[in-house]
Amino acid sequence: MGILVSVDPSRHARAPSQTFRVSGMIWEREQTMAKVTIRYTEYFTEAIQRMREDGLLLVTAGADGKANVMTIGWGAIGSIWGRPVFIVLVRPSRHTYSRLEEVGEFTVNVPPLELAAGVNLCGTVSGRDHDKFQEARLTPVASRQVRPPIIQECVVHYECRILHKNDVAPGALVQAILDDAYAQGDFHRLYFGEVVAAYADQDAAHRLSAAAAGAFPMARP
Ligand SMILES: Cc1cc2nc3c(=O)[nH]c(=O)nc-3n(C[C@H](O)[C@H](O)[C@H](O)COP(=O)(O)O)c2cc1C
Repeated sequence: MGILVSVDPSRHARAPSQTFRVSGMIWEREQTMAKVTIRYTEYFTEAIQRMREDGLLLVTAGADGKANVMTIGWGAIGSIWGRPVFIVLVRPSRHTYSRLEEVGEFTVNVPPLELAAGVNLCGTVSGRDHDKFQEARLTPVASRQVRPPIIQECVVHYECRILHKNDVAPGALVQAILDDAYAQGDFHRLYFGEVVAAYADQDAAHRLSAAAAGAFPMARP
């Protein structure tokens, strides 16, 4: 019999229990892996690479306190106005958009490769009519500094407070991008979030190493 690993996120929000079944034997261990503070640039390469692969998970919370999660494939980490900033681009049609307008804070979470199916789900259905945390088996956990939660199963976390927002200006955009990205309008709003906390699993480097190995490949012919 192979090794079966199941995680029951409903039991322990901060330290999920893992059940291992090996050759008919079952035992449990508490996942004690702590999340440690990092420099916001520490996993830059890995975060950008994961964003270009499956996407990252953007978590927001409305004035009603309800959290929502959606997948993002576009964004940037950098230094603006002398501050660490994570920029996310959100179309007005997203449920996430109204949440960001109500509560000017968000978290960005870097998923490990094995969460690919859940990340896809969060990018294809809306929080208006789905509880994506439940459907994608993701565990919301209280953030350190902001109201929207982080996602326990992710590996790197950025907590952000919005400093500035700005809509894509059709008149200032090259035609090729207008044609590719905005045939239906729905122009993104850019949210510039100051990174007020950044932390990661202790084994983040290992868990994201497969992602980093393929980072920024040369264009194929
Ligand atoms: C890989 C991937 C990347 C995506 N990137 C973005 C993005 O950067 N900005 C955006 O507005 N929508 C993006 N989407 C679409 C939203 O994730 C999707 O519309 C989602 O269902 C919106 O959820 P919500 O209505 O709960 O906010 C992406 C979807 C996928 C699958």
